[in-house]
Amino acid sequence: MATFPFPFPQTTYRYSTNVEPGRAAVSTPAGQWGEAVVDIDSEYHHELAERARILAVDPSRYAVLPHMHVAAWDAALDLMRELALTHPDQCDLTLLERGARPTYRWRNDLLGIDHTFVLGDTDTLPPEHPEPLGWIAAQVQEDIVLLDQRDGVLYGDAGVVTFAADWSFGFDVGMTFLEIHGPVPRLHAEGVITRAHEFLKRLEPGEVYRRTNWTLTVGRRLDVSTELYPEWGPDREWVQTLDDEDFGRLVHLRVEVQHLIRLPESGAVMFLIRTYLLPLADLAGVEHWRLRTAEVLRELPDDMAEYKGIAKYRHRTADWLLAH
Ligand code: HEM
Repeated sequence: MATFPFPFPQTTYRYSTNVEPGRAAVSTPAGQWGEAVVDIDSEYHHELAERARILAVDPSRYAVLPHMHVAAWDAALDLMRELALTHPDQCDLTLLERGARPTYRWRNDLLGIDHTFVLGDTDTLPPEHPEPLGWIAAQVQEDIVLLDQRDGVLYGDAGVVTFAADWSFGFDVGMTFLEIHGPVPRLHAEGVITRAHEFLKRLEPGEVYRRTNWTLTVGRRLDVSTELYPEWGPDREWVQTLDDEDFGRLVHLRVEVQHLIRLPESGAVMFLIRTYLLPLADLAGVEHWRLRTAEVLRELPDDMAEYKGIAKYRHRTADWLLAH
C-alpha cells in the first residue's frame, strides 16, 4: 500500500496525453512511488513465475519481428542498467571488454544469475533464455512493448506482454500506435492519441517519461488478456452477487504505471507497463483515496465505463467505498 500509485489527481477522470517526466518521486497519504523506472516489490518472484507459466502455455505473448533484434538487445541492456541503478547491492552490469565484441557480466542475485555475454551474440545467452528480450522479461515485473519508428510512424513490433488488461498483444503486434488505440472511445476524436504520437516521435535517446492508466478488476488475476476472456469475463457478472465483505476483498483498483523511453542504439521507443492491484478493503483505509475513487467512479461517463469493462459494478464500487 505504501508504494501504490494512486491515479486520480482530480475529482473527475478524462483521457488526456497525461505524460510527465519519469524518476520523480510522488508523495501519497500512504507513502510514495515513482522513483524507480523498474520497480521490484514483494510480488517479484510470484509475478515472474506467473509470466513464465503464461509464456509456456501461450507463446504468442512474446514476439520480436525480424528487424527488432537490435532493439531487443538495447532494451535488455537498458533494463539491466535500471535494475543495477535501483538495486545496486543485488544487481550489477559490468563492461568487461569494449570493441567489436562488447562483453558484459550481468549479476542479479535476486534470481541467482551471474552470466557473461557478448552484446548481439545470442549464442552467449543462457540456454534457457536464448534471446535478450525473453531473458530480461524473466527478470522484471514490467510488461514490455518495443515500438519501431519508420517514416514518421510508430509500430508495436516487439514485446513480452503477459499481464494485458483486456487487450491482446499477439493480435496487436505489427500495428501502428494509432491502430493499436483504435478500440478506445474518445481518443481519436479528441486528438489525444495523435498528440501522444507526436510527443513519442520527438522523445530523445535516454529520455524517460511516464503516465498512469487504471481500471477495476475482480480478484488478483494479472492476465486479463482478451485471449482468456472466457475465463475472467464472467467475473464481472458474479461479482455483483457478492456480499459486502467479499466485494471489498475481491474488487481491486488496478493501476498501470507506464514508462516511455527512447532507446539509445536502435532508436526504438520502449513502453513498460507495470501493474499494481489494491483491494477496495485496503483502498478504503486511506480516507483521501476512498472518497476520491468513489467520486471519480460515480462521475465517469458511460462510454468510458463501458470500454473499461466496469459499467456493471462501478456504481456498487462507489457506494461500497462511501459506506466503508
Ligand atoms: C489503451 C492512452 C501509449 C498501448 C489506452 C487508453 C488510453 C491510452 C487513454 C485507454 C485505457 C483505458 O481506458 O483503460 C495512451 C497515451 C499514450 C499511450 C496517452 C502515450 C503518451 C501507449 C503505447 C502503447 C499503448 C506506447 C504500446 C503499444 C495501448 C493498448 C491499449 C491502450 C494496447 C488497449 C487498447 C485496446 O482496447 O485494445 N491508451 N497510450 N499505449 N494503450 Fe495506450
